[in-house]
Amino acid sequence: MKEFYFDNAATSSPKPESVYEAVELAIKKYNANPGRAGHRKAIEAGRKIFEVRDKIAKFFNLKNNLNVVFTANATESLNFAIKGTVPSGASVITTNFEHNSSLRPLFYMQDEKGVKLTFVNTYKEIERSITSETKVVVINHISNVNGTVQDIRKIGEICKKYGLLFILDASQSAGYLDIDMERDNIDVLCTTGHKSLFGIQGVGILCVREGVDIKPLLEGGTGSFSKLSRQPMEMPEKLEAGTLNTPGIMSLGAGIDFINNFGLDKIRNHENQLTEYFIQELEKIETIKVYKSITEKQGPVVSLNMVGIDSADLASVLDEEFGIMVRPGFHCAPLAHKAIGTYEIGTVRFSFGFFNSLEDVKYAIEALKNISEQI
Ligand SMILES: Cc1ncc(COP(=O)(O)O)c(C=O)c1O
Repeated sequence: MKEFYFDNAATSSPKPESVYEAVELAIKKYNANPGRAGHRKAIEAGRKIFEVRDKIAKFFNLKNNLNVVFTANATESLNFAIKGTVPSGASVITTNFEHNSSLRPLFYMQDEKGVKLTFVNTYKEIERSITSETKVVVINHISNVNGTVQDIRKIGEICKKYGLLFILDASQSAGYLDIDMERDNIDVLCTTGHKSLFGIQGVGILCVREGVDIKPLLEGGTGSFSKLSRQPMEMPEKLEAGTLNTPGIMSLGAGIDFINNFGLDKIRNHENQLTEYFIQELEKIETIKVYKSITEKQGPVVSLNMVGIDSADLASVLDEEFGIMVRPGFHCAPLAHKAIGTYEIGTVRFSFGFFNSLEDVKYAIEALKNISEQI
């Protein structure tokens, strides 16, 4: 059976060929511990890592490439960003569309550090929610449940006006939307490598604006300052303890090259075309309820439910009978389901990627119509 992969919000699949080649090169040619020795292989591996740091800094317009930190995933980046910056007792404004990788560190800060949390649905409610206690704003750029896009330029302006730290979760937007840390006034950008940036799993990014102090949550070997008893305060070592994931980092570099060569705008236009067509056709099917963005902009993630069938069952039928891979359930974002009214039932999520075609989407629509007629 032909396979149709619509789970790109979980991880992008397939990856560009150049990404697979970069991983092979990393484990064959550059298989040494970067920054841990003076021999040529270690130096070459370290150079490759530095090249990717620089690519990432340019991609997000972060001025100092040494402030690009490699983590394991967005979850680790968000834990660093939230637990390493939010002062005890401060107020934080965030959204109901956050992923658990922000929500759980935030609730930890609430329970253990007396942090007060204010939840809004969209960026439009942020300014009126600010109090004298507000210190930090944590925002998921694009919801992984219904593709709600938050206007980060406006949020950045508000954060600048009130002197608030702006932490952005760009897990669903990096590699799809244009993000500029200077223009958008982003203090800390957290994202993962394995979604629209096309890297393999196991590498995440934390970009820290000059002057923002994140306390290290991990301590350990950095390959430098070995005689220091505590973690060095120099970036990126301050936030990078332990051996880096060279294959993951090199795959990410190849993924970013692919995006730069093909064009971010072209990638976005393609995914937008698929998403718009999908929503337009879904709205013609009476038994389907579509959950789309609640702001004026829609990302390439759409949730739905079909009358008379549970979301997990619908996903199974799509997979088993039609070869269509989607994700049912709660997508690690419980408050988003409260906001859209699906807290009890969950949703079936379709998420489009660069390698999906309009023909694939048409096939998915026909499959949904077919199932709907059988119920
Ligand atoms: C919006 C959002 N934030 C954070 C994450 C966490 O990413 P990772 O599992 O790579 O840490 C995800 C993953 O689905 C996500 O969609």
